[in-house]
This record gives sequence, C-alpha cells and structure tokens, in this order.
Amino acid sequence: MILPVIMAGGTGSRLWPLSRDLMPKQFLKLDGKQTMLQATVQRLQDVDAFPPLVICNEEHRFIAAEQLRQIQQLDHNIILEPAGRNTAPAIALAALTAVKKGTDPLLLVLAADHVIADTSAFTVAVQQAALFAADNKLVTFGIVPTAAETGYGYIKRGNATGSAYAVSQFVEKPNLVTAQSYLASGEYYWNSGMFMFKASVFLAELKQHRPDIYAACELAMAEVDPDLDFIRINKEAFIACPDDSIDYAVMEKTADAVVVPLDAGWSDVGAWSSLWEISTKDTEGNVHHGDVLSTNSKNSFVFAETGLVATVGLENIIVVQTKDAVLVAAKDKVQDVKAIVQQLKAAG
Ligand code: GDD
Ligand code: MG
Repeated sequence: MILPVIMAGGTGSRLWPLSRDLMPKQFLKLDGKQTMLQATVQRLQDVDAFPPLVICNEEHRFIAAEQLRQIQQLDHNIILEPAGRNTAPAIALAALTAVKKGTDPLLLVLAADHVIADTSAFTVAVQQAALFAADNKLVTFGIVPTAAETGYGYIKRGNATGSAYAVSQFVEKPNLVTAQSYLASGEYYWNSGMFMFKASVFLAELKQHRPDIYAACELAMAEVDPDLDFIRINKEAFIACPDDSIDYAVMEKTADAVVVPLDAGWSDVGAWSSLWEISTKDTEGNVHHGDVLSTNSKNSFVFAETGLVATVGLENIIVVQTKDAVLVAAKDKVQDVKAIVQQLKAAG
C-alpha cells in the first residue's frame, strides 16, 4: 500500500507578503478555494493510499490539523519538527514512523505546495511509479524543462525500462551555464520534488550515504509512539541533525533511481510570476484576485486582500496588498522577494 508523506515545513518566502512565518504558502488559498495542503490531499482521491502522514513545524500543528479537518480528512498523523532540517531528515522521520509500526509501505513523498492541473495524469504516473518502488527503486517524477531554471534538480534520462527510464545522473540546482547545456541536450528532466520508494529502501540509502543524518533521526524517533495524531520527536536529537535535502543527501548519490515522466500541468509556484503563469488571465493577460480595478494594464498580477486596489497603465507588474504590507515588483524580478524577507528578518 501507498503511504502519502506530505512535506509541509517550507517557508515559501518568495510569496511574501502573503506567505509569512505564521502562515506559509502551503497553508494559503492561492486559488481562493482551498489551501495548497488541502489540494495535495484531495489530489490523492483515486490513489489507493493510507491516510496521509504530514510533516511540518510544530508551530503549525493546529493550522495543519484544522485544514485536514475541513476536508474531512480526520484520519491522519502529523509529525512535528521542532525546527526545519530540510527534506532528507523530514523524510527519514516519516520512513522511521512507518517502520516503527512494523510496516514497510511505499512512501509517496509530496510537497504540500505544488499545483498539478491534471489529477488523472498524476494518478497514472503514481500507479506507474508504484511498480518500480515495489521493485526497490527510488522513483522520481520528471517534468520536461522549458527554461534553464537553476532552482530545480535535473535528471538525465538513461535506458528505458517499461514506462520509466533509469536515472543516469541527478544534479541538484546546477549553475546557469550547466542548466543551459542540459536544456539544449534534450536528455534531462526537471525533478518535480515528488518521490516514491519503500520506507526501508530510503532508510538503507540514507544510512549508506549520510549515516550522520540517519543516526540523528533514529535517535530523535527512539521514544516516539508512531500511532499518535501529533507525533512529537526528541527535540535535542533532532536539532543536532545535519541539515540537507533529499536531493543532495540521497538522489545525487544513489545508483537505483528511475524517472517516471509527468505531464500534468505541474508547477511549484515558487514565485508570484509562476502564479501569474498558471492562472486564467483576462484578454489583456492580467490576473486579479480580490477587489481590483485596472485600466490600460497588461500582463500584470494584482492581489488585493483587503479593500480596493486600483492600477493604471501597468505592464508586467506584480502588486500584492495585504493588511499590513504591500509588494510592488517587476514580474521578471520576483525571485528577489526572498531578499526582502531576509532584510526584514535581519531588522528583527
Ligand atoms: N517538513 C519539512 N521540513 N518540509 C520541508 C522542509 C523541512 O525542513 N524543508 C522543505 N520542506 C518542504 C517544502 O515545504 C516543500 O514542499 C518541499 O519540502 C521542497 O522544499 P523546497 O525548499 O521548496 O525545495 P526546493 O524548491 O529548493 O527544491 C526541491 O524542489 C524542486 C521542485 O520544486 C528539489 O527537490 C528540487 O530538485 C526540485 O526541482
Ligand atoms: Mg520549492
């Protein structure tokens, strides 16, 4: 059986000022209907899966539990991290939780903050992935790249095996020149950031490649009751765990990865510009949320949380207005919103 493992511990800082420490991206309703966490769970409706295991910061436990309750997902477990140590430790905690219950399910590791337009194509890819995961492979889901993005992992396609390919190389966040050469070669996929493998297979790989992370997570889980709704781990042991992502810690190093191609309208909504890209636009290419009036504007994104926002003559501009902060940015520069958040944090 498949155990969905939903990673919900990121900060989503490039979606400031809507995404905040107290309410990061994965808990927001970016489409105005349901939160990204809720959409992630509901996307699994046609997958034969156990109740989900969510991993998030302990500060967000009530938000996560309440959002699951709102969609009637009453059966779930939430692992609480006292601090983020990135995705390799988070997934290790999930795998250890399953193993502690005496089970070895196929973990379907999902980010809580992705948009996937085509649920049926996603379901088919998961079903294909399950066959390889059951055969002790580490499965990635590959997206055909459309730009030389440096914020993604790149997966080189090897020999075909059924509906997947062997991974001949996995490179996390290459530099621009390297990303450009990968794009031009036509041999690489972007890593979607979703994975599938047996709990035991992931733990064996982690133990081999990063015994330090493995040992810290095992210690953090030593006294844990894996059946509780809120799974609390040993704080001291986990704080001492090295910080690393699954991409660097395991995927770049393993010899047993395969890639299942995924063509399902995937976006990781990394920045405001990607939200503009995936949204339905008016005839002038504008996207408006909330109470917005605009004239002579083109290809812009305006989000009004409270009160009226009016714009005149904008082109390729992002405006996000919330109760206590306003962002106005050039659409092709919104990656740098992260720098504003860092400045704010430095200023206390
Ligand atoms: N529980 C928990 N704890 N979740 C975390 C933590 C953590 O410490 N850190 C990150 N996450 C969650 C985030 O909320 C997000 O859903 C997911 O894990 C991935 O983390 P990101 O920080 O967004 O990773 P990334 O965007 O730099 O890179 C990953 O995703 C790309 C695709 O979006 C990599 O897997 C890349 O290879 C991939 O291309
Ligand atoms: Mg990301």
